[in-house]
Amino acid sequence: MRVRKIKKLGLFEKPTRIEFLENLSPHLGGPNIYMKRDDLIGEALGGNKVRKLEYLLADALSKNADVIITTGGPQSNHCRITAGICAKIGLKCVLVIGGAGKYEYEGNLMLDRIFGAEVIFSGTRDFDAIPAIMEKTAEEFRKKGQRPYIIPLGGANGIGALGYLEAYLEIQKQMKAAKIQFSSITIANGSGGTQAGLETGKLISGGDADIIGISVLFKKAKIAGIVFKDIYETLGVLGISGKKPGGINVFDEYIGKGYAIPTPLTLEAIKLMGRKEGIVLDPVYTGKAFGGLMDLIGKKKFSKKDNVLFIHTGGYPGMVNMRAEHVSAIVK
Ligand SMILES: Cc1ncc(COP(=O)(O)O)c(C=O)c1O
Repeated sequence: MRVRKIKKLGLFEKPTRIEFLENLSPHLGGPNIYMKRDDLIGEALGGNKVRKLEYLLADALSKNADVIITTGGPQSNHCRITAGICAKIGLKCVLVIGGAGKYEYEGNLMLDRIFGAEVIFSGTRDFDAIPAIMEKTAEEFRKKGQRPYIIPLGGANGIGALGYLEAYLEIQKQMKAAKIQFSSITIANGSGGTQAGLETGKLISGGDADIIGISVLFKKAKIAGIVFKDIYETLGVLGISGKKPGGINVFDEYIGKGYAIPTPLTLEAIKLMGRKEGIVLDPVYTGKAFGGLMDLIGKKKFSKKDNVLFIHTGGYPGMVNMRAEHVSAIVK
């Protein structure tokens, strides 16, 4: 498999474990639910972005970069993990933060500073305007004789997606070893890279599991376009031609009022996962995505015999998005 030949940083032990949710599955009365614990990847407090950054930062190092510039919202897990790994490997990290508010140094933003990143508040909510700001920042470093490397929002490109292509291959091996077949793999979809990686894995190595993305940010038409673009970029990085992605499954009906605003279903998912399994879901990504999966189970999208896999992609510092009214909705 060509992906094994591509350079990556070896930052954590693979495979991450898969466990059966033995209390929650019967409680929901649907399929057998399994969880892949990418939240337990330890690096920089972990989560899915570590997998992408293993490839992206190895690429940056191979190009002799000395400054990494990336972007995300004030509570971006991607920014926090980029800052943490840059600290470890000795690269300067500059974060161009999207959003127009006045932000406290709490949660991920506090961790960005602990990891020593330089934080630039862009002052704009328009993420389409941010690539130009990152480019301008890069130009300033170039003028000083430095070698900047820009990572896009969420690490979503053909190199970052290799992290979840590798995770897909890992899941296939785990299924074989445990003699179990997953009928679907569900993930939170933010910038699209995680889904693109899984889809590319399926495209090149086969398998029957449906990949289900629960969008937490973009409407279906926009995110589907981004995922397709990333799949083609990933195939390009691998030098594979002649493969065409089919349709992709993305649900955008669980976004609610917007990114990082938990819905009643999100809060119900956080509560049930906490009370039945002692596992924490965050209100921005995994809580919203698992809430979507619960809704699909309630709508009988799966049979009782199905084994369904949910990838827990981390995001614990995002708990700061839980406001008093969210907490009281859970504890009442
Ligand atoms: C905890 C968590 N889960 C899921 C995602 C979504 O991943 P992607 O941006 O690759 O769609 C993110 C992205 O920031 C994340 O931080």
